[in-house]
Amino acid sequence: MERGLFITVEGTDGAGKSTQLAYISDYMKEKGESAIFTREPGGTPIGEKIRALILDRRNEEMSPLTEMMLYAASRSQHVAQMIGPAITRGRIVVCDRFIDSSLAYQGHARGLGDAVEVVNQYAVGEFMPDATFLLKLDPKIGLQRIKEGEKDRMERQDAAFYRAVYEGYLALEEAYPDRIIGIDASQPAAVVSEEIRRHLDRLLLARKVQW
Ligand code: TYD
Repeated sequence: MERGLFITVEGTDGAGKSTQLAYISDYMKEKGESAIFTREPGGTPIGEKIRALILDRRNEEMSPLTEMMLYAASRSQHVAQMIGPAITRGRIVVCDRFIDSSLAYQGHARGLGDAVEVVNQYAVGEFMPDATFLLKLDPKIGLQRIKEGEKDRMERQDAAFYRAVYEGYLALEEAYPDRIIGIDASQPAAVVSEEIRRHLDRLLLARKVQW
């Protein structure tokens, strides 16, 4: 059995995560690797219900602490039911957002700091990502890509909030240089994909060699 590999993709809204996740999926298929693709909040039936609750535009009165705990609850279920068992069985798991989203959005932008780290340590346990692609794009540009009528509760936050999320991500990149791979997402999508591919090749190779 091969060693499990846990990859996450992060970035502010509109940075091009969906495009690059589709690329990663195609590339894994091309390499004959069967990877599990999942997302947060969500990824399990319970998590998807929590997702609907968090992103519902009508829930304007949700407190920052409630929001943080709901994201963590979704994550806890996701790790227990899906990510943990898959990695333990030696599978490759690619997750659209994970702990760094909580650290940047709730920890940094909402100002909940250490509480987010503590709660999420319980949610994640030993299943920290092996590698995290951080798509870096000025949030102003990213948000322009999303239509007003299609914005969920989070995407309706103001520019200062998104600036703080972005700064939170940059601080995480600096704090975890071995895990977080920052990529300039203002480049054409194909150039971003090419950078991701180089790292994927390295990660897939290391997985085979180390085992
Ligand atoms: P996402 O699924 O990326 O949104 P979309 O499908 O619309 O691109 O994420 C939903 C929103 O939740 C996004 O604004 C980021 C936010 N979020 C947090 O604030 N904290 C978290 O821990 C996670 C996972 C997401």
